[in-house]
Amino acid sequence: MADNCQSIGWQITVITGMMYGFAIRPAGQPIPGTIRGAMLMIDTLITRLPKCELHIHIEGSLEPELMFALARRNGISLPYASVEAVRQAYQFSNLQDFLDIYYQGMSVLITEQDFYDLAWSYLERARADNLVHVEMFFDPQGHTARGVEFSTVINGLHRAIVDARQALGVRASLIMCFLRHLDEADAEKTLDAALAFKDRIVGVGLDSSEAGHPPSKFKRVFNRARNAGFFLSAHAGEEGPPSYIWEALDVLGVARIDHGIRAMEDQVLVGRLAREKTALTVCPLSNLRLRVVDDMAKHPLRRMLDKGLMVTVNSDDPAYFGGYVNQNYRAVSDALGLDRDEIVAIVRNGIQASLMTPSEKNEAFAEINRVLATIP
Ligand code: HPA
Ligand code: ZN
Repeated sequence: MADNCQSIGWQITVITGMMYGFAIRPAGQPIPGTIRGAMLMIDTLITRLPKCELHIHIEGSLEPELMFALARRNGISLPYASVEAVRQAYQFSNLQDFLDIYYQGMSVLITEQDFYDLAWSYLERARADNLVHVEMFFDPQGHTARGVEFSTVINGLHRAIVDARQALGVRASLIMCFLRHLDEADAEKTLDAALAFKDRIVGVGLDSSEAGHPPSKFKRVFNRARNAGFFLSAHAGEEGPPSYIWEALDVLGVARIDHGIRAMEDQVLVGRLAREKTALTVCPLSNLRLRVVDDMAKHPLRRMLDKGLMVTVNSDDPAYFGGYVNQNYRAVSDALGLDRDEIVAIVRNGIQASLMTPSEKNEAFAEINRVLATIP
């Protein structure tokens, strides 16, 4: 009986610790040296370390509750009876299945305030996950094609970013993605529109349906974006083959690869990515939910670290894939048994690969050291 009580008490302690992100030691039960203690230490580490997110589609953070609220506000009818029905519909066999629902979801975003509310909600979550810096993708063509002005999108997102810096202490910037299932001329028009807001957009990326749309399709527009001073990244090697990663690097000249997990099929490419320290923005829960991997225990992230790749962990479309950044860290570290050094290495990679200034990076590295000193 006493044993039972102690065990239940211990479980409550673990759960409380996991919810609030700190380690509580029940009297007489040392944490170090036990499996539960180690798990709790990893969880505390994930929660408390200052982190960056480099791969989040802001439209993919639209939670069903906000989707319904915005639909009501804008007089739009949704093809779902309830929030629960929306969540039920999130069963995907591949990237395209998801994208069909993702584009439908964003139809509730109409006014500047809608974009503000979307970004603000995400940035509050970012604060809760102890993110210090976020590079946020957005898909202007998903909005301008529906008659929403580019300026409406950018003004709403930007205002949320300014407010979040002030009120939440989270730094965020915007990376505009071209939809690769559309043609390059459409991307060119989008770049033209973005030039008027150059001070509010740090970079350009490439997303949407990967198969059949190689990076080389966007060679000219990426060249223009580079000349205009934008940072460049591209989704490659999520569903597409390693050759798409080669093209993103050599034809588009990107500095970062989004996803990139299929690089592991090409050891020459792996060698190059490791040598050049090219960051890969890996999104474990996305990979699982889109069936790029069929079991988290088989996720290549651990093997990628072992090959010396600069892996970062991110959420991609958290409202659709079941978790924000910390949940991605937890899912992959539970499934692969990542240790303290591996978690810290991934967090450091995210900081190093970000567009923060050198002094902002140094401050984040110093904060990591302070946190590590408090976790035995
Ligand atoms: N892959 C490609 N395009 C996307 C994604 C993704 O995971 N999310 C939103 N657009
Ligand atoms: Zn993505």
